[in-house]
Amino acid sequence: MNRIKFLQDSCTACISATALAGILSSCSSTRYIAGKLGEDGLFVNADEFKITKNGKTSYRSFIIIRNEALQYPVCVYRFGDADYSALWMRCTHQGAELQASGEFLQCPAHGSEFTNKGKMTNGLADSDLRTFLVTMNKNELFIDLRRV
Ligand code: FES
Repeated sequence: MNRIKFLQDSCTACISATALAGILSSCSSTRYIAGKLGEDGLFVNADEFKITKNGKTSYRSFIIIRNEALQYPVCVYRFGDADYSALWMRCTHQGAELQASGEFLQCPAHGSEFTNKGKMTNGLADSDLRTFLVTMNKNELFIDLRRV
């Protein structure tokens, strides 16, 4: 193996390892659940947002509900104990499934971007995301899907 070939192979392996680590890291920090599907919507225990580590409690900013009965996942953002938004993860441009990343949802197809409240901020999409009413009973969220 000559020196140039060695450097090319080494760089390719290094870049691949870095990319894989990034993908695995982002996968492990996103929580996916199925939720419990009722007649009119989804039920989710608010504890799904909780992270307890070394005796301290913090909260995920969002979880993703991926239920086989639904064509698209629903991303639920937590803003406070009783303040949530639930967003249909279908791009309003051409229907690609969105990816949640921090406080935004991005479309992998053509780059449209939406806020954690569903407002379109960038890209080819020309309307906001479909959102669902979220209500709370004790420690359980109810996501009303009747408008899907
Ligand atoms: S389908 Fe999402 S921007 Fe085109």
